[in-house]
Amino acid sequence: MDGKRDVVERLAERRRRLAAAGVETEGFRLVDGEGDGMPGLWVEVLGRHWMVQRKDAGLPRDWAGLVEEGICDSLWLKQLSKEAKEAPVCVAGAGPEVFVISEQGMRLEVQPGAGYSCGVFLDQRDNRRRVREAVVKQPGARVLNLFSYTCSFSVAAALGGAVVTSVDLNAGYLAWGKRNFALNGLDAEAHHWVKGDSFDWLAAFAKRGRLFDGVVLDPPTFSRGIKKKVFRVEEDYAELAALAAAVIAPGGWLLACANTHRMELGAFEWAVRDGLGRAGKRAVGGMEAVGMPVDFPGVAHLKALWVRGVE
Ligand SMILES: C[S@@+](CC[C@H](N)C(=O)[O-])C[C@H]1O[C@@H](n2cnc3c(N)ncnc32)[C@H](O)[C@@H]1O
Repeated sequence: MDGKRDVVERLAERRRRLAAAGVETEGFRLVDGEGDGMPGLWVEVLGRHWMVQRKDAGLPRDWAGLVEEGICDSLWLKQLSKEAKEAPVCVAGAGPEVFVISEQGMRLEVQPGAGYSCGVFLDQRDNRRRVREAVVKQPGARVLNLFSYTCSFSVAAALGGAVVTSVDLNAGYLAWGKRNFALNGLDAEAHHWVKGDSFDWLAAFAKRGRLFDGVVLDPPTFSRGIKKKVFRVEEDYAELAALAAAVIAPGGWLLACANTHRMELGAFEWAVRDGLGRAGKRAVGGMEAVGMPVDFPGVAHLKALWVRGVE
């Protein structure tokens, strides 16, 4: 997909695919590497601004012209190298540092030049909708969003009527989360914000007998917590799931996610089941694995399990 016509055709194809799936969003994946026959290239549309992640140097041929043609307003490039994942830079057009995109009735702040990520993980879009739908059926639900980052899951839960507790190590991301609440007309003061280690806080909640009707567990693949405790998704998920299961109120749900290609779905399911067992719980309502959104035809790196009726 080098030329402008290919890009325009692909854009139309993606929009058709999303519309057919009933998805209304300004943020979607336009190119998903091998899944779209383009290994080493990943492109995300964020409203009028596009994020290109590429293993080869520079933009694909002719792409700078996309801005002049009015197909998008700016192109950001994140060069992926083995040595370092560099922060994206604006390589065409006038890219604003901060803007807002809408996704299924939510508004979310995006910062394309932010080092770690732009603020929204698009592959979790369907799960954000599912969280919102789940809490709509549970008036006054208490939801715990661990590793909350910019709190997009928290916004989804709060829009569904839940009272949300968001936990993250990084105060800057929680502040971003509060801005996301404001963008959606939600009163941040009516919710709980915890800067700290998810492991420590899960233990503290259990000790205090604080329970939640739903827990979102979507950690990074690797983390070093406050007490320098190292978490590796492949080795430590069962322990994390056990801590989370311990704070789920009878009949509550857990959304357990892991973003790694190093763990097969079967191994991940086993870890979550093991965690429930360690906490003396089981999923009376069953466990359902959900797939990647329709705009992610490439490698299914995200594993997501809905665990229902935790008793
Ligand atoms: C992969 S992101 C989580 C994505 C998020 N669930 C979402 O849907 O946007 C990782 C986040 O976990 C936070 N984090 C990493 N280790 C942590 C820990 N031990 N306790 C709490 N937050 C942690 C990071 O600061 C970062 O915001």
